[in-house]
Order: sequence, then structure tokens, then C-alpha cells
Amino acid sequence: MSLSQIARSISGSPTLKLNEKAALLKEKGEPVIHLGGGEHKSKIPMDAILATAAHLNTGEVRYAPADGIPALKKSIIHYTEEFYNRHVAPENVIASGGAKQAIMVALQAILNPQEEVIYPVPYWVSYPEMAKLCGAIGVPALPDDGSFYPKIQDIEQKIGSYTKAVIINSPNNPSGAMYSEEFISDIVNYCEKKDIYLIMDDIYHRLIFDGKKPINCYKYARDLSENSKIILINGVSKQYAMTGFRIGWAVANKKIIEAMTNIQSHQTSGPSILLQKAAIGALNGIQSGVESLRITLENNRNIMIDYLNSFEGVKVTKPDGTFYCFADFSVYEKNSTKLSEFLIDKVMVVTVPGSEFGMEGYLRLSFCGAIKEITEAVERMKWALDPNSPNELYIGDRKLVRDWS
Ligand SMILES: Cc1ncc(COP(=O)(O)O)c(C=O)c1O
Repeated sequence: MSLSQIARSISGSPTLKLNEKAALLKEKGEPVIHLGGGEHKSKIPMDAILATAAHLNTGEVRYAPADGIPALKKSIIHYTEEFYNRHVAPENVIASGGAKQAIMVALQAILNPQEEVIYPVPYWVSYPEMAKLCGAIGVPALPDDGSFYPKIQDIEQKIGSYTKAVIINSPNNPSGAMYSEEFISDIVNYCEKKDIYLIMDDIYHRLIFDGKKPINCYKYARDLSENSKIILINGVSKQYAMTGFRIGWAVANKKIIEAMTNIQSHQTSGPSILLQKAAIGALNGIQSGVESLRITLENNRNIMIDYLNSFEGVKVTKPDGTFYCFADFSVYEKNSTKLSEFLIDKVMVVTVPGSEFGMEGYLRLSFCGAIKEITEAVERMKWALDPNSPNELYIGDRKLVRDWS
């Protein structure tokens, strides 16, 4: 069959594939523990449900404007004022089908074929594929010091005449690292100086721990006019547990938003009116759920870190936010795909291989599930990997026998 070059160059989302694999095993009754997921199971806000139901009851579920309904834009404008101390106009805002579509459409609006977009390693799995979908090239920038915290020099080294944009995701998926204020200030200034776009993927910015405060990129911008090349991304998926509602947004200069709107209008049209209503409900409603989620995640992180720290040979950097821990298992197996498959096959624990995020030897472990699942999963992994483990392990009344070395 003849497929396009772009289609042939794209691989499916590994995290979505893992979700399917875990679901299939669960359906068969296998005692799977899924540490691979990118969503927590807390209840979505009641205000979101009520807003959706109220709109559904009107029976008026029609096309929505390609860039989002005015009421949602208004909520996003409030959000931008509250969290970024920045006042923007409706023409500076587009609502999309998740932060994923907002990033994709932003890249389509700014990248020409062969141009380059730089992002620090480890990076979210979709950035390289999104660049490819534009016929452009993703350029990973590995921090020189081997940490998860990039410095401006790491980005500078990758800049060339084809560089069009930098994507920064902090707190970061998969490392959980929240980049330093110094780095954010440096990257904002550097992109302004070089006149390149800066996409700030802030999707996890309210899920941070240890009393840290989110960093506002606009604080360091010298140019806040309509020439600003900062594209700020956010959404309801992570902070409100509304992954299935598929609402994200971008805030940027009017020309970029207009271009993104034109693209989106031919791609998907505006996001479903019902889901936009739900997002308005969440954004305008009671916010205490976000803080209780944050506290739960911080507690889960502490437990996972304690368990991993007692795992001989595994190297862990404490995540500052998100719900992921990116741990170095290379002492056991350098090929992370092999290791991840081994853990599913032997002890039914689902993890995501580090290679998907640009770093071999690592596994991404989500701590968004129940504490019992987190602790049991790490215990199962220890049993499978530690050569000094006892010969047998019971999962419920199922006996596993360790017949590998
Ligand atoms: C770093 C990052 N950006 C964007 C997204 C997309 O979020 P959404 O569900 O709003 O499309 C995700 C989801 O996993 C993510 O981890």
C-alpha cells in the first residue's frame, strides 16, 4: 500500500498503546498494575458535569466557532490574569481539542518544512512526531550535566539557521522536573533576542510540590506587545482530571491565533460545544479539587520515592511536580523497551520505556493511582529484577515462580 512519507515516519502514541495493552490484560482478569498512564482517576468537578448537562438539556448541540465560544475565551482570559498576571483579548486566545491539538496547530502555524524546533530531553513523546507532521525536524537538547534541569547553553548549542521555535514543558513529563526560574528567564530572553517562537507547555503548572510556586514566563518577557512570540499552552486535562473532555488552549499574539484558527477550522472545526461548556464549568467553578488533587499527588510521590529509594541500584530524582517519576533502571537493563516488556510479562506492571522520551535506561512510572497499587507495583518490580529475590511471589492467590536469573 502506498502511504505518504509523513504517515510512514510517524509512530503511534506509545502511552496510548500501553493503555490499550493494560485494558486488554485487565479484561482477561489479569492483576495488572498500570503505572504507565497519564491520567489520574479523581472525580471531575461537579461544576463541569452540571454545565455539560445543562447545555445538553437545551438540545442545542451545534457547531461551535473554530477558535472557541466567547464564554470559554472569557474564562481563559481570567485564568491568564489569575495565574500569569497578564491581560489578553479574546483574539489572543484559541480553544482546541486538548493541549495536544493546541500545540499541534501552533506548530503548523509557525513551522515550514525542514525548519527545526528544539526541546530539552527528556521530552513529551508527542513533540518529535508533531514536528514530523509539519514536515519539520524536532531537535532534542540533552542537558550537559546529565540532570533533568536544562541550562540555556544546552539550548544554545542546538540553535542553527533553521531553528524556528523552542518548546519548554515545565513541570516536565516525564521527569517531573520544574525548571529553575533562572532558566525560564534565560530562555524567554534568548528567544526574544533570536526572534524565535517559545512554546510554553504549562499543562502541569498547578500540580507542583514542596511549596514551590509556578513560574510565569511573561514575568521575564521584555516584549509583551502583539509582536511577542510566546505561545502559552494549557488545558483542563491534568488539573481537573478531565482528560476525556479534550479541551486545551493557546494564548499568543493575534496573528498566530488567527493562523491557528484558520488551520483548526479546516481540521476539526471548534471543539464540541458540550466539552467547552464543561471546561467553563471547571474553570469558573469551585477550585478546591485542584488543591486536594495536588496534595494527594504529593503524598503519592513521597511514597513512590521512598519505595524506589530502597530499590538497590535504581537512581531517582525527586519530581517537583506532575504525576510522573523518571527513574534510572540501567543497572538492571539498558534497553528500556526490553525492560518494560519484561515487567509486563513477568509481573504485570505497566511502565513506559525511557527511550520514548529520548533517554535509554529509564522508565516512567506514574504515581497517579492508588497508594496500594504504587507500593505493590514497586514490590513486584523489585521481586522481578533483584536476583536475590525469593523464588516465589503471590499476587492474590496466584503463585508466580521466578524461573529467570
Ligand atoms: C507535556 C504534555 N503536554 C500536553 C499534553 C496534552 O494534554 P491534553 O490532554 O490536554 O491534550 C500532555 C498529555 O499527556 C502532556 O503530558
